[in-house]
Amino acid sequence: MVKLAKRMSRLGTETAFEVLVRAKALEARGRDIVHLEIGEPDFDTPAAIVDAGCEALRDGWTHYGPAAGIPELRQAIVEYLNGARGTNYSPNQVVVTPGGKPIMFFAMLALLEAGDEAIYPDPGFPIYRSMIDFVGATAVPIPLREAHEFRLDVEELARLITPRTKLLIVNSPANPTGGVLERSDVAAIATLAVEHDLTVLTDEIYGKILYEGEHVSLAAMPRMAERTILLDGFSKTYAMTGWRLGYGAMPTALAEQIAKLMVNSVSCTSMAVQRAGLVALTGSQDEARGMVEAFRRRRDLIVDGLNAILGISCLRPKGAFYVFPNISSLGTSSKAFADRLLDDHGVAALSGTAFGDHGEGYLRLSYANSEANLVKALERIEAAATS
Ligand SMILES: Cc1ncc(COP(=O)(O)O)c(C=O)c1O
Repeated sequence: MVKLAKRMSRLGTETAFEVLVRAKALEARGRDIVHLEIGEPDFDTPAAIVDAGCEALRDGWTHYGPAAGIPELRQAIVEYLNGARGTNYSPNQVVVTPGGKPIMFFAMLALLEAGDEAIYPDPGFPIYRSMIDFVGATAVPIPLREAHEFRLDVEELARLITPRTKLLIVNSPANPTGGVLERSDVAAIATLAVEHDLTVLTDEIYGKILYEGEHVSLAAMPRMAERTILLDGFSKTYAMTGWRLGYGAMPTALAEQIAKLMVNSVSCTSMAVQRAGLVALTGSQDEARGMVEAFRRRRDLIVDGLNAILGISCLRPKGAFYVFPNISSLGTSSKAFADRLLDDHGVAALSGTAFGDHGEGYLRLSYANSEANLVKALERIEAAATS
């Protein structure tokens, strides 16, 4: 019998993938399901990017390459970040990875050990907590509250910092709430991080999926570049989830260590995929912008629709492509309601608790779906809420 290492019992998961499997099984039995569970654009990757990937394969980009990424792409990433986020990176500070997710995994492996505390958002992307637990550090949730528009409350953060706090994880625009930090929040977080000598993982993967206001990068705040890992990627902005392409920007010494973790795990990111990423970053941004405009219309449709349902209320998120409606007055747990939505009404949604204990009372719906499907889902959610 296989005997697992103890650490495996500490590894969490992402419920979205489990709900997807359950929803697909129901579909295989002939049920009609609206998929609002998985966080990916429903659009295809823009054609110019697909062409660049195919061309790269034909041109012989079929070999191993540098662990940290091809120089052309690292350069393009630096130009993009320095232009859009106001940072001052150089290419040796960038590590290209198969998706943004490995940056979380690698950063925590490289930084945390038993006894260290890591503060993470709750509700937040479940892999943060999973990885903190996995590497044996202590996970300290910072609650994100609806009353505060799901923005991190800096005073509350200050109270959670101890001499053992090593890492702070921040995600704006946020999954699962769509909350966006304001410039004053970001400045205050940076001040705390400098004062307490914290390392910060700033997950900015939804940085370009913004409907109002501005995206302010923690990495651009004074004295933050030396203590920040900026995570970003191509999955969401360019509808490239299945390609697996992301990156981190960080201090050079840490980038060297993360590149070593790349050598030890996957060797390098697919070369053809990196060539496609280069075209994504340097080519026309019209399609990416068009997707954001479509998301904005869908956001308004789903927020207005949810607020018209008795017992449900929903903030209008400023970024990402999720809504996090409050269902606490329906008199059922979030998990029970999400299960009933799928089993009896054909809507795959996630319980807010899939993102931490502070998600109780909420659902997470991804509105990266057609307007027709969203209308269908709203009718079904209303039926479930009133039955
Ligand atoms: C907040 C957040 N960060 C990172 C990721 C990882 O994306 P990928 O690994 O596809 O780049 C996701 C994907 O859902 C996400 O929601």
